[in-house]
Amino acid sequence: MALAVTDRPPGTAADWTIPQNWASYTSSEHAVWDRLYDRQTDMLRDRACNAFRRGVEHLSLSEKGIPNFDELSERLSKRTGWRVVAVPGLVPDEVFFEHLANRRFVAGRFIRKPDQLDYLQEPDVFHDLFGHVPLLSDPVFANYMQAYGEGGLKALRLGALEKLARLYWYTVEFGLIAESSGLRLYGAGILSSFGESRFALDDASPNRLKFDLMRVMRTHYRIDDYQQTYFVIDNFDQLLHQTRDADFTPLYRELEKLPDLAPDAVIASDRVMSRGSQQHAYRGKFQ
Ligand code: PHE
Ligand code: FE
Repeated sequence: MALAVTDRPPGTAADWTIPQNWASYTSSEHAVWDRLYDRQTDMLRDRACNAFRRGVEHLSLSEKGIPNFDELSERLSKRTGWRVVAVPGLVPDEVFFEHLANRRFVAGRFIRKPDQLDYLQEPDVFHDLFGHVPLLSDPVFANYMQAYGEGGLKALRLGALEKLARLYWYTVEFGLIAESSGLRLYGAGILSSFGESRFALDDASPNRLKFDLMRVMRTHYRIDDYQQTYFVIDNFDQLLHQTRDADFTPLYRELEKLPDLAPDAVIASDRVMSRGSQQHAYRGKFQ
C-alpha cells in the first residue's frame, strides 16, 4: 500500500517508474528469493486459495531467481492485461491509484537482506511479486484491483482515502476466503509472510468475521504486527460486485457519522466465524 511521499527521486520517470535492471541482481539476492520462495511454497500448501496456486503456475513463478518484470508482464498481460512496473519505493497515493486504474501493478525492485527473512516494514520484491502478482492473473480479482484504483482516485477527491485504504488492507493485503475445502489465504501481506500465513488460519488469537463493506471501512488496523481481525469473503465475485458496483459517495457520508472501530472489536451485527482470544502480545499502536 502506498503512503504519502511527495518528492520524486532523481532517475524516476514522470510516473515514478524505474527500470528493474534485472541483470544487476547478485547471485546472493537471487538466493534470498529462492529461499523465501521454497519456504513459503511449503507453508502455503493447503493454505493458499485456489486462484493463487493457479496464478503461480500460469506465471511460471517456480523458475529460479527473482523474476524479470518484463517477462512476467508478458505472461500476465496475456491473461488479464496487467503488467508489473518497478518503482523505487513508496509512491504518492495518486500515482499508485493511477497505475492500478491502468492495470499496472507497481513493485519494489529491491529484495530483503538474508537476516530479514521473517519481517520487514517496507514491502520488497518478494512481497510485491510473490504476494500480489499471482492473483492478478485471476480475471475477477484483476477487475477488482483496477476498479480499486479508480475508486482510489475518487476517494482522494472526496477526502475519503482513510476509509477506502482500510478496504485494501483487509482484502488485498490481509483477506481470507472461504473455499469448499476450508478457509484459505488470498491477502498478499499474509501470503508473503511465513509467520502470518500460519497465524491467520490456525491461531486462536484473531477474530475471523464475514466480510462486510461498511464494517471493514470503519475498522482500524495494525501495520506493525499480525492482524487482530481478518475478514472472510465467500468468493471474488462477491467482493467485486459489492465494491465496483456500489457508489461509495453516499457510503463515505454515512461513514462520517459512524464511529470507527478498534482492530479487535466485535459488534452485534458481525457475522462471527471465530471470535479471537486476542492472546497474542501485540507490539506498537494501531492506525
Ligand atoms: N465503486 C466505488 C466508488 O464508487 C469504487 C471502488 C471500486 C472501490 C472497487 C473499491 C473497489 O467509489
Ligand atoms: Fe502489498
